[in-house]
Order: sequence, then C-alpha cells, then structure tokens
Amino acid sequence: MPLYSKKVMDHFMNPHNVGEIENADGVGEVGNPVCGDMMSFYIKVKDDRLVDIKFKTFGCGAAIAVSSMVSDMAMGKTIEEAMKITNKAVADELEGLPPNKLHCSNLGADALHNAIKNYLNKKEGKQDGGEKVDESCEVHNSHEDTEDS
Ligand code: FES
Repeated sequence: MPLYSKKVMDHFMNPHNVGEIENADGVGEVGNPVCGDMMSFYIKVKDDRLVDIKFKTFGCGAAIAVSSMVSDMAMGKTIEEAMKITNKAVADELEGLPPNKLHCSNLGADALHNAIKNYLNKKEGKQDGGEKVDESCEVHNSHEDTEDS
C-alpha cells in the first residue's frame, strides 16, 4: 500500500517554485534540530499580494512536497489570505500525509508565515530574522524513504 498520495509524490518529484529570490521582501525559516529538516521561504510582495514565492528545503520528501504545495497555494494571494493557510489545509490539499509525517506539514505553513511576518516587520522598520525552531519533529527523528518498495 502506498505511503504517500500521488499528489505528494508529484510535488516531491517535481517541486514547484524551488529556489531563492534575490532581494526578497521577506524571508522565513523554520528548522528542526532533531530531524535536521530546514525550510526557507522567500517572498516578493506587490500591493499587499504575494507576486513571487520561492523556497529551499533540505529535508524529507514530505517536507519538500509540503513546501511546493504551500508555495502554490499562496502564490497570488493577499498577505491576509496567505496568513490563513493552515497546516491542515496544506495536508488536505496533498490528499493527506501518513500520520507520522503530519508534523512535516507544520513546517511549510510556518515558514511562509514567518516570511510574511518578516516582510511586515521590515515594513514597520523592526528587526526580525524570521526564524523559528519547530519542536514538533522531536517525536520523529528517522527519515523514511519516500519510495514504496
Ligand atoms: S519535517 Fe519531515 S521528518 Fe521532520
């Protein structure tokens, strides 16, 4: 029985919006010291809308699929709409994740939200590194292969 939905596999094999934006308006990072997964999101904002999003993820297959899906879901949305993207909405859009990988979907929404907060803080002239450590991975520190063999 396949561990991952076809959508997860598609986004993992061909992730959308991979990369980095030079002079990004906002950068958000989340990392987990236990499983070692790291996600960075870069956003460009115009008229309160996310006109470009890129990400770099060093992590498990689910984390890569989640990043790709979050970037698709948020592209073109207003800041307000993008802040409402929930971890559950991302997992649902991916047609579910195995229970032991659900925590990986937390990283994507958090990284995007951190990038938006970083943008908003910069706009207000505050300093914000946009970084956060997600503790939820602590329950899971092994990386399964994404192949269903
Ligand atoms: S984010 Fe996938 S194993 Fe931690």
